[in-house]
Formats: sequence, C-alpha cells, structure tokens
Amino acid sequence: MSTIIEIEGVSKFFGGVVANKEVSMSVKQGGITGLIGPNGSGKTTLFNSVVGYHPIDGGSIKFENKEISKLPVQQIARLGLLRTFQQTRIYGAMNCVQNMLISLPHRKMSLWDAMKVNTKEDYERADRLLEFVGLYEKRLLKSGDLSFGQQKLLEFAMALMNEPTCLLLDEPTAGINPTLINGLIDRLKRANAEFGITLFIIEHNMRVIMNMADTIYCLAHGELLAQGTPGEIQNDQRVIDAYLGAH
Ligand SMILES: Nc1ncnc2c1ncn2[C@@H]1O[C@H](COP(=O)(O)OP(=O)(O)OP(=O)(O)O)[C@@H](O)[C@H]1O
Ligand SMILES: [Mg+2]
Repeated sequence: MSTIIEIEGVSKFFGGVVANKEVSMSVKQGGITGLIGPNGSGKTTLFNSVVGYHPIDGGSIKFENKEISKLPVQQIARLGLLRTFQQTRIYGAMNCVQNMLISLPHRKMSLWDAMKVNTKEDYERADRLLEFVGLYEKRLLKSGDLSFGQQKLLEFAMALMNEPTCLLLDEPTAGINPTLINGLIDRLKRANAEFGITLFIIEHNMRVIMNMADTIYCLAHGELLAQGTPGEIQNDQRVIDAYLGAH
C-alpha cells in the first residue's frame, strides 16, 4: 500500500507546552491507522496540524506527496482530507438533512442562502448517507433532539457528504453505548472497504481500535512512543507502562 499522509518531524508548541515533538508517522492509502496515547499526549493537536487548523512549528506534512503544512484548512479539505471533532459540531436547531446540506464545502455562505442552492442530487445523497448510518427515519428531526450517539453518527455522515479520500476521526466512539458502538464500527469499516476511504482514527476504546486498525501509533508526552500492528502494540512494554496498563 502506498502512503497517503506522511508526517515528518512535526513539532507544535503552545507557549511553553510542547504538544508535539518531532513526530513522524505515515498513513497508508486505503488502510485504517490508529492513534492512541494518554490524555494530553498530543493526539488532537497532531490531527489539527494535519488538517491545517493551526500552523506547525517544525517538520513537514504531505498528503498524496504534496506538502500541505502551509495550506489553509479549506484548501486541505478540498484536496479530500477531512476530520471530525472530539466534540460533535452540528447545528442543533436544524434537522439532519439540513445539517448534511450545509456541510458541503461550497456552501460557505449564510445558512439561509446555502439552503437555496442545493440540487436534487445533494438531497438524494444526504438521504442515502443518512440511511447508511441508520438515521433515515430521524432525518427530519431537529438534530439537537438526537441522542449523543446519534449525533456522532450524523457527524460521520456529514463528513461522508464531502466524499473525502481520507478521514480523520477524533474519538468517534466516545460516549456511545456498546450496541451503537458495534454499529458505528461496522459503518466505519464499510466506509473504508466499500467507499475506499482511508481512515486515521484517534481512540481510547482499545477494543475498537485493536479490532479495526491495521497499524497503530502511540504518542506519549507529545512524542512517538511506539508503532506497529495491534498485536505488537498490545505487547509493547513501553505502551503498557505509559498507557495500556491503566486500561
Ligand atoms: N490551543 C491550545 N492552547 C494551549 N495548549 C493546548 C492547546 N491545545 C492543546 N494544548 C495542550 O497540548 C497538549 C496536548 O493536547 P491534545 O488535546 O493534543 O491531547 P490529546 O492527546 O488529544 O488528549 P485527549 O486524549 O485528552 O483528547 C495538552 O497539554 C494540552 O493542554
Ligand atoms: Mg484529544
């Protein structure tokens, strides 16, 4: 498999805090890569750096062999590299379909104007993807009235609406009950296998990430601690001491 994201020697500081220190990792095209590590180890910061949410203080980030570390976030999104957030970002007052439509990249206009320019295909795609994540019956419900887990599913569907090549998911299963987690794992795997979307996933749920990922990276104190297959990571003494021992 070829590399789709190449992170080389990336550092990011917040004042005196070293959030990432010379981190290098590569994400394989078409695969599922996991990112684990204790709270505050710099996982979300690294995702923010990759999608251009903030400038980095050193190193290089390439997407499909193109340097992207100095590109603005919208331009990176247009290349097909998208992320979801640790906290869901949906408009609670709008229904699910409306949330799907305003997530489209060319709809960066007022919400009201955005609602008027959607095509029949956009509506059909929104319905199809809501069906895919199991929210079709709820599509006209105010999204603020969905359960937390359903809101996570909606956020995932909103990301798919943009037809990403590669999707970064920040703790997709956090706060979701075990039954819904299995459904979400299934949808993520299908998005990977059927739509060919490369996934890069931050997770604290070890059952989920060990079950899904082909390669896992572990950060600790902002630095890369280990990398390997799920089996290798589970048996890595450094990872056990820094992180897994507490699980
Ligand atoms: N905008 C910011 N300003 C200042 N410090 C920040 C900022 N964002 C992150 N940090 C700090 O950088 C470090 C890494 O935080 P980050 O959110 O990347 O960790 P994380 O691995 O995602 O943790 P968690 O598992 O709890 O989500 C922490 O010490 C955090 O306090
Ligand atoms: Mg985080």
